[in-house]
Amino acid sequence: MTDAIVARGLGRRYLWRGGAQDALVDVNLRVPAGGLLGLIGRNGAGKTTFVRVASTQLLPTAGSVEVLGHDVVSEVGAVRGRIAVIPQESRPLYWLTPQELVAYYLRMRGGARRESEAKAKEALRELGLVPWAHTQVNRLSGGLRRRAMVAMVMASDAEVVFLDEPTTGLDPLARRSVWSAIRKAVSEHRTVVLTTHYLDEAEALSDRIALLEHGRILLEGTPREVAGRVRYPYRVAVESGFTEEELRSYGEVSRIGDRLLLFTHEPAARELTRKGLERGARISLGPVSLEDVFVQMVGKDFESDSAEEA
Ligand SMILES: Nc1ncnc2c1ncn2[C@@H]1O[C@H](COP(=O)(O)OP(=O)(O)OP(=O)(O)O)[C@@H](O)[C@H]1O
Ligand SMILES: [Mg+2]
Repeated sequence: MTDAIVARGLGRRYLWRGGAQDALVDVNLRVPAGGLLGLIGRNGAGKTTFVRVASTQLLPTAGSVEVLGHDVVSEVGAVRGRIAVIPQESRPLYWLTPQELVAYYLRMRGGARRESEAKAKEALRELGLVPWAHTQVNRLSGGLRRRAMVAMVMASDAEVVFLDEPTTGLDPLARRSVWSAIRKAVSEHRTVVLTTHYLDEAEALSDRIALLEHGRILLEGTPREVAGRVRYPYRVAVESGFTEEELRSYGEVSRIGDRLLLFTHEPAARELTRKGLERGARISLGPVSLEDVFVQMVGKDFESDSAEEA
């Protein structure tokens, strides 16, 4: 299988008076054509920076990215016509209706009028936007606007689609309509880069997941591989009934807010459940999810960051 996106030793350093921020450091990534890469990581990890560099909106300061075989710096023209992007926090032009927005976008990309209008209608239907198709965007809610943006890029013939947090702020049903639009794009053998803070979403949609932390790739692989990278198969969430110290004797503990998360093996999980029942403790137990991997991989760091701020 060919790769639609190849990043080699990619770096991006932001410079400003008196400071520098390395938003990407030696990032090596491949996204196979027709695959979906889920890019996850905490706020400020470098996800948007990656999307901006790979979609030709921002120059890298080290390394390179090729999209569909073309370098994003030296062959910008060859890349731009074949990709589509929804930037984080972007808003559609407010004086248009969703139907116009999508149709005009397709025409700007070279589509014929009738075909663009028909495709726009179809995309709005897929995203559940039919009732609002002819309402001016400035009268739509934030979530509806966001969905109109998704309809726009999904209706295009772009071979590579970058979606930077397309589902942030959407209600659970709207989120599902975006998921099915994304799945349809993948079924059409288009390549998708998706950033998200919803780890269930990353898990459900991604062929491969990359976890960024401080601009570096901490983990990369299929959702199953990534979940398999943690040492313990079970997670016990404890709200009351056990002290942090006591839990430490069972495995690895992270404190998230006022909850303790223990990662452990099955026998310990059983014993804790039994003790918890005896004590009337508030605990819940389950196999580790992507969210738990995330907590385990970057949770320690989160604790020390919070301590620094305090
Ligand atoms: N224009 C800029 N100038 C200076 N620093 C920047 C700029 N844009 C981003 N950064 C810094 O680069 C780092 C990565 O930012 P980026 O926006 O890529 O993170 P992110 O993973 O998309 O975060 P979020 O989940 O909050 O969207 C952060 O430390 C951020 O402060
Ligand atoms: Mg971002």
